[in-house]
Amino acid sequence: MTKRVAIIGAGPSGLAQLRAFQSAGRTGAEVPDLVCFEKQSDWGGLWNYTWRTGVDEYGEPVHGSMYRYLWSNGPKECLEFADYSFEEHFGRPIPSYPPRAVLHDYIMGRVAKSDVRRFVRFNTVARWVDYSEETGKFTVTVKDLKKDELYSEEFDYVVVASGHFSTPNVPHFPGIEVFPGRVMHAHDFRDANEFVGKNLLVVGSSYSAEDIASQCYKYGAKSITFSYRTRPLTFEWPDCFTVKPLLTRLTGKVAHFKDGTSADVDAIVLCTGYLHHFPFLPDSLRLKTNNRLYPANLYKGIFWRGNPKLMYLGMQDQYFTFNMFDAQAWYARDVMLGRIALPADADQDADIRGWRTREEALEDPFQSIDFQGDYVQDLIGATDYPMFDIKRVCDLFKEWEHDKEKSIMGYRDNSYVSVMTGNRAPVHHTAWIEALDDSLEAFLTVPVAAE
Ligand SMILES: Cc1cc2nc3c(=O)[nH]c(=O)nc-3n(C[C@H](O)[C@H](O)[C@H](O)COP(=O)(O)OP(=O)(O)OC[C@H]3O[C@@H](n4cnc5c(N)ncnc54)[C@H](O)[C@@H]3O)c2cc1C
Ligand SMILES: NC(=O)c1ccc[n+]([C@@H]2O[C@H](COP(=O)([O-])OP(=O)(O)OC[C@H]3O[C@@H](n4cnc5c(N)ncnc54)[C@H](OP(=O)(O)O)[C@@H]3O)[C@@H](O)[C@H]2O)c1
Repeated sequence: MTKRVAIIGAGPSGLAQLRAFQSAGRTGAEVPDLVCFEKQSDWGGLWNYTWRTGVDEYGEPVHGSMYRYLWSNGPKECLEFADYSFEEHFGRPIPSYPPRAVLHDYIMGRVAKSDVRRFVRFNTVARWVDYSEETGKFTVTVKDLKKDELYSEEFDYVVVASGHFSTPNVPHFPGIEVFPGRVMHAHDFRDANEFVGKNLLVVGSSYSAEDIASQCYKYGAKSITFSYRTRPLTFEWPDCFTVKPLLTRLTGKVAHFKDGTSADVDAIVLCTGYLHHFPFLPDSLRLKTNNRLYPANLYKGIFWRGNPKLMYLGMQDQYFTFNMFDAQAWYARDVMLGRIALPADADQDADIRGWRTREEALEDPFQSIDFQGDYVQDLIGATDYPMFDIKRVCDLFKEWEHDKEKSIMGYRDNSYVSVMTGNRAPVHHTAWIEALDDSLEAFLTVPVAAE
């Protein structure tokens, strides 16, 4: 009997899984019966922008955490698919830091050409997954949101690709409940124009804090105060930025910090990260982890140690993104197709231990980049996913880190050489800080002089 595979989520990770099977099918493999359940009405995951916050039209938690005017925060040369270059998609080299709409177009272009949309059941949310030791199968219960109907089907494998940047981690600070201004988590942030002329407090010191603050400055916020818990964002910020230690309490509009200082603020954005949240999984199958490079209990960062027929894609903290999801999807596919045999339990545990021990000794972002590069290399080396110069991509990430140090507001004006095509990206026609129109059309416009 043909095996059945359920894929939960049609974001970049779930789509990588579909593409991986399609690629094997093209070369004659017997592809299992694939069903991808996607709760949104379209594919693309986080890249599928929504204006909604809170709950969607069906009362489901809104998945989207992306906002208007979001531009890639890393060079596109680091996330490029090895089997579908930006040049192939757009017909020419494009600048290195595309806005969201351009990356969305690129992700969708590859899968649209692969004819895999027919496998996706849109507006269908995974509600529960059970495994029967007796039958050796999973029962996946989903809700067809449009029909308002629950139903269940049996599968041999389940691939969880539901993302982990959608359920906000929302700490409490005394006095926040009576703060006389807007309080939101980054998950609900949509439009920087809301904060024009405002004094903004941004809690957190990672990518969301850095990018939301930069964007609010770009669109006209009056001042930004960062508050960090563990380590400050040490870039050379414009004069209207201040970096403070952790927020301890609020009295009216006054924010008090751990060092005894305070600041008057009009609005607060909590950039305090996300929770890995899988309400459709029982404890026995559920990944419990913080946002880290090597989550526990996943062999090769993919296979659930309690039951390797359950796989997770994209659950790591991410330097590498799209091509790492591909590497995982190709590996998972080859295990499902019987091309790769999983080793004995003890060997799987030893492999996980090796990676985790190395992860725990990482001292800086450069070592973390190399760590994830080695992980991606390890996966690709075992499959027929086109190998690319991963060491060169690690070097690009390091160059990117240096470019941010040089100019946090100007780093997106740099251009890099594609590892896939060898061509250097053109410099964008407008400096990022002045580029207020983030549409695909504006980004792809070639200035007349350059034509
Ligand atoms: C604000 C923000 C900006 C980012 N910017 C960048 C960037 O510039 N460059 C970069 O490379 N990466 C960026 N990322 C990282 C991002 O994680 C990846 O690019 C990518 O979107 C992850 O893909 P995914 O498929 O694993 O998850 P997601 O994109 O989150 O997709 C998961 C999919 O699963 C669906 N789903 C969830 N639960 C269910 C369910 N129960 N049933 C059915 N379907 C379900 C969702 O609707 C969604 O379509 C950013 C992340 C955030 C939060
Ligand atoms: N394209 C873009 O421009 C863009 C924009 C935004 C986000 N992203 C992506 O989105 C993903 C998520 O980034 P993220 O910054 O939201 O999450 P993150 O990287 O997991 O960082 C979470 C931050 O929240 C802080 N935090 C957690 N709990 C806290 C508490 N109780 N009090 C104070 N601070 C607390 C953490 O501080 P500690 O260090 O103390 O733990 C950390 O600084 C990343 O992959 C990123 O690349 C991309």
